[in-house]
Amino acid sequence: MTQDLRLTIAAELERTRARTALLTDAVDDTDLIRQHSPLMSPLVWDLAHVGNQEELWLVRDVGGRDPVRQDIDELYDAFKHARRDRPALPLLDPGQARAYVAQVRQKALDVLDRVRFEPDRRLVDNGFAFGMIVQHEQQHDETMLSTHQLRAGSPVLTAPAPPPSAAPVTGEVLIPGGRFVMGTDTDPWALDNERPAHTVDVPAFRIDAAPVTNAQYLAFIDAGGYDDPRWWSPRGWEHRNNAGLQAPLHWIRDPGGWLYRRFGRVEPVRGDEPVVHVCWFEAEAYAAWAGKRLPTEAEWEKAARWDPATGRSRRFPWGDDPPGPEHANLGQRHLAPAPVGAYPGGASPLGVHQLIGDVWEWVSSGFEAYPGFAAFPYREYSEVFFGGDYRVLRGGSFGTDRAACRGTFRNWDHPIRRQIFSGFRCAKDVA
Ligand SMILES: [Fe+2]
Repeated sequence: MTQDLRLTIAAELERTRARTALLTDAVDDTDLIRQHSPLMSPLVWDLAHVGNQEELWLVRDVGGRDPVRQDIDELYDAFKHARRDRPALPLLDPGQARAYVAQVRQKALDVLDRVRFEPDRRLVDNGFAFGMIVQHEQQHDETMLSTHQLRAGSPVLTAPAPPPSAAPVTGEVLIPGGRFVMGTDTDPWALDNERPAHTVDVPAFRIDAAPVTNAQYLAFIDAGGYDDPRWWSPRGWEHRNNAGLQAPLHWIRDPGGWLYRRFGRVEPVRGDEPVVHVCWFEAEAYAAWAGKRLPTEAEWEKAARWDPATGRSRRFPWGDDPPGPEHANLGQRHLAPAPVGAYPGGASPLGVHQLIGDVWEWVSSGFEAYPGFAAFPYREYSEVFFGGDYRVLRGGSFGTDRAACRGTFRNWDHPIRRQIFSGFRCAKDVA
């Protein structure tokens, strides 16, 4: 059992590092050091930061070993320097950063060989700290993928196209009212903000069977939605004006129709694909125009996890099995959201599709602690963000790894952000 866990962790660490290498080896040193957007760190910062977190938690804390590079802790502390300031820091250069993360990994694997997963030491129970570090690196890999999307120049990433739609998925699904269990006590690598499990009474509601597509979103654009303050909240309208919003990020207006710049390739906007790179205010305005609203976080999770046959909450819409290629578009296997209907095997029992993967889905709720929340293992992971000006995103995107995605997983960002792989679906009350 312990040996199985060690092997699982080692495989996850290796799989994750291969993705980090792919994202950082795809460009030359100049591109690694450059800042591609003031919203993003230089890729070389993410690389060494991933190694520094691994050193802090696995080598020093779990392993009780001496520091490898205590002198650089401050440079790679995300709370000490805003992203826009990071290029000016005396960062490790690409060669030094690669050597550093490799050295830390050797030590972390040695710690893994010797660690005892003692249930009374919560940091290592079920390998939690290792799972946290795997998820942390995968989260930065998704961030680096966003940086790639913002990078100018010719394409460097390639991947096969996502599967085609297997069946049309349209309309809304009625989710009956009643109680369900939100969050988890039992998922071993679930993070503090997903805990504890608690019962929530959710009145009946309808939710879109699929994320809002480009074709649907284009109808909003064509109807003048961006120019009509009726659909926007006062804050949203102010932001729309200040930022000059006219379409999702990376869309290009062309005489022949809208184009989309995706990882350096310019192609026509695909109507059947979930819309991506919209901010929360755009999602809110679209929903108002459509006569709907965004789902609450509890509604989203009930649609994704509640099993009407047993009343139990499952890990994923399709059950408790980990995500496979038949369930969801995750893990950068494809470099785009899949068309609606591409994953019938990932639908919920009530017929809600593509809740996991493809695009992160904005929900109406702010980022708040669940009742009974306890920060673990550090306040800066979640607690310091509760109650701030954030909105929650659920379900993961095509750039989210399966290790960092569950029915309970919570992501959050400012409502103006859209460099992330963010889309949405709508909901409405049952009259
Ligand atoms: Fe981080």
